Amino acid sequence: MTSTRTGGIEVRRLTDEVIRSFDGTPDARTKTILTSLVRHLHDFVREIEPSLPEWEAAIEFLTAVGHKCDPVRQEFVLLSDVLGVSMLVETINDQHAPGATDSTVLGPFHMTVSPTRELGESIDEVGSPHHLLVTGTVRGTDGQALPHATVDVWQCNEEGFYDVQQPETQPAGNGRGLFITDEQGRFWFRTVPPSHYPIPTDGPVGALLKATDRHPYRPAHIHFIAQSDRYQPLTTHIFLPGSPYLDSDAVFAVKPSLVGDLGTVDADQARQYGVAVGSAMATVDLILAPDQDGATDVH
Ligand code: BEZ
Ligand code: FE
Repeated sequence: MTSTRTGGIEVRRLTDEVIRSFDGTPDARTKTILTSLVRHLHDFVREIEPSLPEWEAAIEFLTAVGHKCDPVRQEFVLLSDVLGVSMLVETINDQHAPGATDSTVLGPFHMTVSPTRELGESIDEVGSPHHLLVTGTVRGTDGQALPHATVDVWQCNEEGFYDVQQPETQPAGNGRGLFITDEQGRFWFRTVPPSHYPIPTDGPVGALLKATDRHPYRPAHIHFIAQSDRYQPLTTHIFLPGSPYLDSDAVFAVKPSLVGDLGTVDADQARQYGVAVGSAMATVDLILAPDQDGATDVH
């Protein structure tokens, strides 16, 4: 509902005048974006009719978001995440290739290079008591196994912290690994079951969650980026079935297809992978879509 004040001719003229100010923008895409931004922003302000103190509070909030950013903390990305914008952009850019694994958000913790590891190696460098074997394949949507693909993995520990959040207790690279698939496109590694965890709440985004009575938790997951020549890179997670918050992820990144399979290691697998019978085991297939111009026949 707009009042006469905000729906009036003067206010409309103001919006048109601002939009016209971009008439000379040389880059067409920049002009489209700015024009649309002003149109929607002015509609939003007309709908909300903020008081001056509310407008000041909004400016202060955005200023605080900026002040919270540093080389390892991106509060604007976190804001985008909790407003569902990151997931919206991710979904718009997902090529929707039939049969490809769904993508989901990158998140802020992929900020260091993962250590290169041998197939079968553990990404747990602190000797945690619980174990999880992860096995998977990288394939194309045509079913072809992709040897020599890279699989970049990162996850939090059993207490819900990434290495970069606990530099005193976790060695850099703990919970991370860069693997290369074998001739059959397979990869496997040992790890610990990641916990659900809260996104960082010590900044203005945390204050926003508190003010709106929202919890900050993400369900337990392992991150993957799979890449192979002539295929589109895939950024995704597997979520652990049964984890709390699968139905209320603070950043809206759960897709039902990404909730993984958890089983236990049998005697054959125990021999094959060198782990104890009965250990927890997750299986992950990462299916990549061909590049726009990608033939998939030569491998
Ligand atoms: C993550 O999964 O690492 C993450 C994603 C979005 C916001 C915070 C954390
Ligand atoms: Fe994460």
